[in-house]
Amino acid sequence: MGFGGIQVLSDVSMTISSTERHAVFGPNGAGKTTLFNLIGGDLTPGGGRILFFGMDVTELPPHARVRLGMRRTYQSSMLFPELSVLENLLIAVRGVRPGRFGLGRIRPGDADVEAAEALLRNVRLTGVTAQAVSTLSHGQQRQLEIGMALAGTPRLILLDEPAAGLSAVERRDLTELLTSLPRSTAFLIIEHDLEIALHVADRVSVMHGGRVMKQGTPDEIMSDAEVQAIYLGSASKEAADRAH
Ligand SMILES: Nc1ncnc2c1ncn2[C@@H]1O[C@H](COP(=O)(O)OP(=O)(O)O)[C@@H](O)[C@H]1O
Ligand SMILES: [Mg+2]
Repeated sequence: MGFGGIQVLSDVSMTISSTERHAVFGPNGAGKTTLFNLIGGDLTPGGGRILFFGMDVTELPPHARVRLGMRRTYQSSMLFPELSVLENLLIAVRGVRPGRFGLGRIRPGDADVEAAEALLRNVRLTGVTAQAVSTLSHGQQRQLEIGMALAGTPRLILLDEPAAGLSAVERRDLTELLTSLPRSTAFLIIEHDLEIALHVADRVSVMHGGRVMKQGTPDEIMSDAEVQAIYLGSASKEAADRAH
């Protein structure tokens, strides 16, 4: 994968099982977000293939991948700030379904509203149901993004730095939320906060210069001398130790 003739991702090979929680590490510019853009369909690779549950999705547009059960959150928020928390979730519920799309009237007992309310509970935002998203804390907005990504029981969620800009308390809430997600939904998480990433992940990929440099369990990655030398400082090692 390249931009303007500059290769930013090459020879990346990754297999994620259907129940796996996989963290992607790597310094800024390593190609992590580009990898997500390729998996999610925002970019098409110059070569290679992307298989999703055995199906070749390499040429499919993002919305077609959403229909197959793939979701993503973005580094920058994609919420509707003037609408309520419930309305945002309702848009997500209706948006992932084929056919008619619109906010429409909210009627209690409506199946979509019930689905949105279930998501609201999943991401622990029942206390702010009717509030405009613009009034939420940054952490609550990130929780809501995950709630929207959970609409329609996805098979895979791509989370791009969900803890960026969160306070310590919000990070703990996020970690609990990620840990509590159903195992039937796999996720890939780009996260600089090792305490979060190592706590939630079953396996880790370390990217460097557009390649996957190492793959392994959190323990294997943290004890790898090459990983430590290139990417992880001693401060990060301490954070990893605390996470265990
Ligand atoms: N749209 C783009 N146009 C040109 N270069 C890009 C674009 N997106 C990313 N890059 C470059 O690709 C490399 C990888 O970027 P990115 O995937 O965002 O890294 P990461 O998410 O690991 O920080 C960087 O050198 C970045 O500058
Ligand atoms: Mg990035």
